[in-house]
Formats: sequence, C-alpha cells, structure tokens
Amino acid sequence: RDVERARSIEELRRMAVRRIPNFCREYLEGGAEDEITLRRNLGAFDRWAFLPRTLVDVTRRSQSIDLFGQAIAAPFLIGPTGFNGMLTRQGDLALARAAAAAGVPFTLSNVSNTPLEDIAEQAGGRLWMQVYLYRSRRFVHAIAERARHAGFEALIVTTDVPVYGNREWDARNFRAEARLTLRNLFDTACHPRWLCDVFLPDGMPRFRNLGELLPPGKDHAAGASAVLAQELDPSLNWQDIAWLRDLWPGKLIVKGILDPRDAEQARRIGADGVILSNHGGRQLDGAVSPLGVLPEVAALLKGHLTILIDGGFRRGSDIVKARALGADAILLGRATLYGLAAGGERGAARAIRLLALEVDRILALLGCTDIRNLGPDILRPVSTSPA
Ligand code: FNR
Repeated sequence: RDVERARSIEELRRMAVRRIPNFCREYLEGGAEDEITLRRNLGAFDRWAFLPRTLVDVTRRSQSIDLFGQAIAAPFLIGPTGFNGMLTRQGDLALARAAAAAGVPFTLSNVSNTPLEDIAEQAGGRLWMQVYLYRSRRFVHAIAERARHAGFEALIVTTDVPVYGNREWDARNFRAEARLTLRNLFDTACHPRWLCDVFLPDGMPRFRNLGELLPPGKDHAAGASAVLAQELDPSLNWQDIAWLRDLWPGKLIVKGILDPRDAEQARRIGADGVILSNHGGRQLDGAVSPLGVLPEVAALLKGHLTILIDGGFRRGSDIVKARALGADAILLGRATLYGLAAGGERGAARAIRLLALEVDRILALLGCTDIRNLGPDILRPVSTSPA
C-alpha cells in the first residue's frame, strides 16, 4: 500500500514491518534486555492529560520554533540513527532530503552508510553530526573536522554508550560472523521488495562514513560491529566533553543525559544543548523515561541551555506535551525510520507530514495559536507512579 495513505506513524510501522526482514525489524524496533525502558518511553506520555482552553479563535496557527537562533518549520528534527541503509537503499540521504524539504534539521549518525560529505552535497538543509567518543580520538577529531568543512552546524556527542547495551537480538543477528543461515535466507526471500531495493544491488550496505576506523574492504556489517565494539571507550568522561568543546566551534550538544545534575554539568562545561535520552531503550534497561525527568531539568536550566529530548515520540500530542513541559525541540528516532522503511524518502516525508499535521490539529484543539506560548498549565498529571 502507498505510504501517502498511511494515517499515523503506527500505520507506517505496520507497512515497514511487512516490507523488511525480521532481522532488520529487530534492529529497528528492539531495545535492551526486557525492553522495560522501551515500553516506559512509550507509556510516559499517558501520565499527562491535556487541559484545553476553549472559545479561542484558532483560525491561524503556528508550530514554527527557534532553534539556535534560526526558525525551523516544526518543533522537531530527525535524530541520529546508524545503519539507515539497511532499511532502504541510501537511507541516510532519503531521510536528509525529507527533512530538508520539510524545513527541519537532519542528524547524521557517525555509524552511517553514507559519507557526511555526500549528505551535505546531495541533500542540503540544516545538518547536525553525531559522534561516539571512540578510543581513537584522532578519528573523532578527523570526523569533527570533516563535518565542519562540510558545513554541519552542530555536533552531537552521544554519552550513554560507554559499553553496548545488552540487545540480545543484536548478538544473534550481527555480532557473530554474518552467515547465510537457512533462517536468514527464508526471511529475506519472504521480503522480495527489501531484497531488490537493499540487498541485490550492492549486498549489505557498507559503513562509508567511518574513514580510517573502517577502511574500504573492512566496512561491512560484521567487521564494523566488531571494530566498533572494541572502539567504544568506557573511560569516557567530562574531560572528553571539554576536549570536544575546545576543538568544535559550532553548536555542541550532549546526548544521553537523564540526571539533572549532568545537564547542569553540560552547561557548565560550555555545551550549547543537551538531549534527554535513554537511547530509545537500547542501553540501560530499567532507566527512567526522558519525559519523566524533563520537568526537573527544565526547572533547573530552561533558558540557560537548549533542552532537547527523544524517546518514544509517535504522535503530535507527544511532541506538544514535551514542548509544554519545557523541551525546546524533539528528536525523532523510530517515527521517521518507520516511514523510511515503509517507503524510502516518500515514507520519511509522510512521517514528518503526519506529525506536523497532528501537532497543528492538537494546537487548535488546545485553544493555542502559537506553540511558542505553550506552558505546563495545559497539562495535568494523571498518575503518580514513577516513569
Ligand atoms: C538509534 N540511536 C542512536 N543514537 C546515536 O546517538 N547514534 C546512533 O548511531 C544511533 N543509532 C540508532 C539506531 C536505531 C535503529 C535506533 C532505533 C536508535 C538512538 C536514537 O538516536 C534515539 O535516541 C532513539 O531512537 C529515540 O527513541 P525512539 O524515538 O526511536 O523511540
């Protein structure tokens, strides 16, 4: 079915799941261990109920916001996800183009299948780059330099992966030598559209953005996951963030913050923003939801630091709630990936469009003409259990 006919992110998700093989679905949807945090992220929005105003003229509405001094068309952007080329061919480029067309920024994961220079040349728009702090700091330095030359405006440093989370499907599907098991053969044969789009033209997509870390020939999935696992650095600490602050002149954003004290530390060290995130439930299972800690972080830091958030955003109403609780903008992870996996660039564009339409409708129903005026007074807590 055509992505244009999907009426929600959930419908795009169902289309995506039909199109891709099971090992891709597990990579896209899965979380760590028992996926308690994954579910908590999704459930956190239900703990807040809207308290709408009525009899307000809402003929004209705006959801445009300011982000680092420039307007963006909607209160969200596309966050970093690795291996997008496994969902559709040239997945990174498709996402970047959909974001640029919609007037929202796109973040490229360092673990991407497309070199950052190609994204800058072929997609345009506002671009952010995400890095992990690998043991090879030379590589981190090099990728930051490349991003600067290519015109990326922000560097996101992800801090919640000192070691890999325990994703059991990951161990099953990617860590071992990639073997063509009967199960995999059957799985892919049952998904001919994916096979023709992704696998047949080039084989499994290569990690083309990792420069000297993964030279050509070693940039295949099995090689990459082994090298990257060795390169993760459990010694990473605030001094590394200070080092990055010194070498990166653009906006620096620390991703993977949950404790308000860490958000405060990020501000002190000179970061421009934080992303409240538990990595979409893929790292510490049992962690709190970012939405659960947002009010505390906003009370401490709103106006002093750009507060971004991700995790479980699937509806315009989720986005509006986070804005009302003090987030400056929302990063989309799986929501746009479902669109991408369902239908490439058109699917990603459809996901963005659906969320923008939902935000717009919610604003009207709340009696609000400008999202910038929303505050926590439009919400009431509906339960006191920890989230
Ligand atoms: C991620 N995430 C992620 N984060 C990051 O900093 N670098 C990366 O390369 C990736 N890769 C990645 C792949 C996939 C398939 C997913 C689902 C997630 C985490 C991502 O940026 C974000 O924190 C979560 O996806 C947010 O949760 P939702 O919106 O996907 O529920």
